[in-house]
Amino acid sequence: MKTPRISIIGAGNVGASLGQRLIEKDLADIVLIDIVDGLPQGKALDIAESAPILGFNHRISGSTDYSDSADSEVVVITSGIARKPGMTREDLIRINSSIVSGVVKEVVRYSPNCVIIVVANPVDAMTWVAYKASGLARQRVLGLSGVLDSARLATFIALETNCSVKDVSCYVLGEHGSSMVVFPRLATVNGKPITALLPAEKISALVTRTVNGGAEIVGLLKNSSAFYAPSAAVVRMTEAIIQNQDKLLPCAAVLNGEYNLREVVIGVPVKLGRDGIKEIVNLDLTPDELAILASSAETVRKQIGSITLE
Ligand code: LAC
Repeated sequence: MKTPRISIIGAGNVGASLGQRLIEKDLADIVLIDIVDGLPQGKALDIAESAPILGFNHRISGSTDYSDSADSEVVVITSGIARKPGMTREDLIRINSSIVSGVVKEVVRYSPNCVIIVVANPVDAMTWVAYKASGLARQRVLGLSGVLDSARLATFIALETNCSVKDVSCYVLGEHGSSMVVFPRLATVNGKPITALLPAEKISALVTRTVNGGAEIVGLLKNSSAFYAPSAAVVRMTEAIIQNQDKLLPCAAVLNGEYNLREVVIGVPVKLGRDGIKEIVNLDLTPDELAILASSAETVRKQIGSITLE
């Protein structure tokens, strides 16, 4: 059987920590691609030299040449500029859409059957750009959002309720940005909704902290955005695809009528397996909740509308 290959475009903080996390899982060979000569090769070699100590068997390599990513099952796009303090995700839109569209065209030239995971921000709009630039079926193009945002919310809930993070279950939906959608009734600790465990003001504070989760890290690090939790989230998504897990995960997906939305990307629960999104899962939302989701989608639609696709 052919060894599966995962390529990561961009060998910055997210790309390199993702490479490290993935190779340590020993799921697939990993190729790091970056335009800065020496960077992907150096990071990949450094990670590869940890194999005898950690005991993984798959190979990790770095290159500036997209042909080295050929025949990847999954390609993760981390390229793009990161947010600086005070910069919103939307500020990035013009620069990153041109970067993402160029990168995706190279990616599909060599891996025409891959599944693309977009990390570049604003991720919902960039997932749309990747979908359009790739020419792939919508099932094969998704973005990192809800797995990361839900992990942040679960972390805050566990801290607040003094329970194990493993007992928390929650889904963050909508835009990965200021219109992110959290329905507290869908967040539970040991099956109990947090609405029954915490006062409304507390819940509202946890939700606000989650919505600002990325910005909180940027504010602390100053010269970088988050990369440990984002890379862990992409590992979760990649694993579901490579191992054909049919795992339910909230991801940025191209909608075509689901949740009464179409021609837009937002975070929704999807079943992830080989070939990408096997199903967009319909949560039983109330009319009010659907309206909140639609309003979040409207924010993304405006971003998409401002992009000129080359
Ligand atoms: C964040 C980036 C990955 O939320 O958007 O940290």
